[in-house]
Amino acid sequence: MLVLGIETTCDETAAAVVERRADGSGRLLSNIVRSQTDEHAPFGGVVPEIAARAHVDVLDGIIAAAMNEAGVAFASLSGVAAAAGPGLIGGVIVGLTTAKAIALVHGTPLIAVNHLEAHALTPRLTDSVEFPYCLFLASGGHTQIVAVLGVGNYVRLGTTVDDAIGEAFDKIAKMLGLPYPGGPQVERAAEAGDPNRFAFPRPMLGRQDANFSLSGLKTAVRNEAGKLTPLDPQDINDLCAGFQAAVLESVADRLGAGLRLFKERFGPPKALVAAGGAAANQAIRRMLREVAAKVQTTLIVPPPALCTDNGAMIAWAGAERLALGLTDTMDTAPRARWLLDANATAPAKFANTRAGF
Ligand code: KG4
Ligand code: ZN
Repeated sequence: MLVLGIETTCDETAAAVVERRADGSGRLLSNIVRSQTDEHAPFGGVVPEIAARAHVDVLDGIIAAAMNEAGVAFASLSGVAAAAGPGLIGGVIVGLTTAKAIALVHGTPLIAVNHLEAHALTPRLTDSVEFPYCLFLASGGHTQIVAVLGVGNYVRLGTTVDDAIGEAFDKIAKMLGLPYPGGPQVERAAEAGDPNRFAFPRPMLGRQDANFSLSGLKTAVRNEAGKLTPLDPQDINDLCAGFQAAVLESVADRLGAGLRLFKERFGPPKALVAAGGAAANQAIRRMLREVAAKVQTTLIVPPPALCTDNGAMIAWAGAERLALGLTDTMDTAPRARWLLDANATAPAKFANTRAGF
């Protein structure tokens, strides 16, 4: 089974072709990603309209490159998958409409993929992980702990009540005058800093639930930075080190709670899987290894190119759905918001906040 996947929900324009064999294993035939970082850098964050226009400009070429590299003709595809949300709606419309056009012209089944589901299923492409497993998704837009029980069967065990982890790294970077995107910059500065110079709070520590919160920590960093202004390079390194240390301790605790909830409800997970851009952080990876070892489960982190947004994950999720006969019709709508777990509700007292429950 050969599936083309298209990703345009945020600031990467991506297309890929994957093969799914009858035994459920997968093979990547091509994976083309064009990041829009340069277009957004002057604004210190993703500008939705600039993102949508850039997708329109380059998507055709990216798809052609993915098909060429795979050596596959459109007529040989078993399915065309596009991320139909959640994401910036302009970009989602570009990708989904393009997939519909290809599907119509070639009489190929369409699969409208949830971007979060694609992150969730990636370790089955890279490592053939069996269900059920525990997913830690930490990207610029999402921080979630999810029980992955089967294709289309997800239970959210925890979520952020304010900022996503990547978002918090980006905001700290901006606050301290480091360039965009901020995650890698904060990580690098933290390596040269003293994590103990500032006593930053460890949000949510010890709570029974598995939710995250980072806005209080962010405010604490802002307050310390304000007192020290103008900041010298060592101040910046120390603030980053203190911030990252607090994130690590909080996230380790929250994951411990999530894994406990997982075990109570579904038995021991087959693996702890990390995905999303923040999983590229080496200190976060070390912490994840410790958390997994503590509960005697295997840690699986897909290679960085498949952790951050890409077309292969969309193609693979499309293939997994197609194998179960789950295809979509031409009237499928693009979605800015789309919960992975349809039964998930906002954590108590946070129902009215802007976090993406
Ligand atoms: O998954 P991703 O590529 O895109 C989505 O948000 O969907 O994640 C990007 C996010 C950004 O917020 C970026 O700052 C963060 O992941 N990130 C990192 C690191 N590399 C990327 N955060 C912390 N440390 C890093 N090394
Ligand atoms: Zn993503």
